[in-house]
Amino acid sequence: MAVETKYPDAYMPDIDLSVVKKVTDGSGKGSLTDLSLNESSYGASPKAMAAAAERGALLHRYPDPASKALRASIGEAHGFDPDHLVCGNGSEELLDVIGRLFARPGDEVLFSERSFMQFPIVARRVGATEITAPEHNLVPLVDELLARITAKTKIVFLANPNNPSGTYLPKDELHRLCAGIAQHIVFVIDSAYAEFANLVVDYSDGHELVERYDNVIVTRTFSKAFGLAALRVGWAHGSARIIEFMNRMRGIGNVNALAQEAAVAALGDLDFVHDVAQRTAEERDRVTKALEAIGLSVVPSVTNFLLVRYPTGTNHTAAAALSYFTEHRIIVRAVDDYGLDEYLRITLGGPEENDAVIARMKHFMV
Ligand SMILES: Cc1ncc(COP(=O)(O)O)c(C=O)c1O
Repeated sequence: MAVETKYPDAYMPDIDLSVVKKVTDGSGKGSLTDLSLNESSYGASPKAMAAAAERGALLHRYPDPASKALRASIGEAHGFDPDHLVCGNGSEELLDVIGRLFARPGDEVLFSERSFMQFPIVARRVGATEITAPEHNLVPLVDELLARITAKTKIVFLANPNNPSGTYLPKDELHRLCAGIAQHIVFVIDSAYAEFANLVVDYSDGHELVERYDNVIVTRTFSKAFGLAALRVGWAHGSARIIEFMNRMRGIGNVNALAQEAAVAALGDLDFVHDVAQRTAEERDRVTKALEAIGLSVVPSVTNFLLVRYPTGTNHTAAAALSYFTEHRIIVRAVDDYGLDEYLRITLGGPEENDAVIARMKHFMV
């Protein structure tokens, strides 16, 4: 006898955006170079790996739901009050928490046109209306953002530096934007790539604004320069009141125990992270120059990835380059879902991986 299946009715928002864009890994055998997700190519600090392994002997024990030791370590490393910090299952969870806390249907969530994909996802999940402001050369324009603030605006998101462009808004412009946003609107500065960008003189990760304005939240991650992407650990810095709200909205045991231990150990080895940032910057300059020398245009980046523009109407389009890379077991990110069909986003690898990218592109562009 056939059993009738009835599914529960879900209040499923029609977000029409993939949370994770599928990257094709090609088929066949041989090693694969994955440069598609802006992960670090220099791994994690050995101290962090050892700490995670050690905690692995106690898998039957729950993590600390308050991430107390981790917040204390972050506070110590940056000079912040731990009560102004909340940790998350990646900074991704915290961006989602901010959306659920502050936006509802009818509200507006504002960000720059080619911003990080999670911002429209967060807005759509809660049924809010996304409003985008035009950019110049893939850099946000403060006046265009400010001009789009209305009585309905609840959140302004800025990824600084931005993904997928790798560009950044300089400190004075960031401050001007912040000063123009009324205090009842939450201003989120997503500084996921700050460890790389901090090498640039006129960049600011935005934490000084948290100290000055109660409506500012800065989000950070251990997934990039710290090389802990697998563990999913991020944090946010905000006023005590906002952090209290976020604590009520986040998952209770949101940061797993291995992640907490590894992140604390990683903060005890900041030389490792500085070295990663330094090496990344050197490779970034080298790869940028090499790709430009073969006729490609590269968006100036302060991150660990490059947005590369391919010519249209030729055999050398971004789509053709993507197929060529895939065929040769190098996985990069198409960014057509960002409306950037002419571009590919290529995460910087270690020197050998970068040499392979350059060699492949030389061959492809002939
Ligand atoms: C700008 C930006 N913000 C946030 C994230 C999310 O990082 P995680 O959830 O791993 O902390 C990413 C990841 O790619 C990113 O590019």
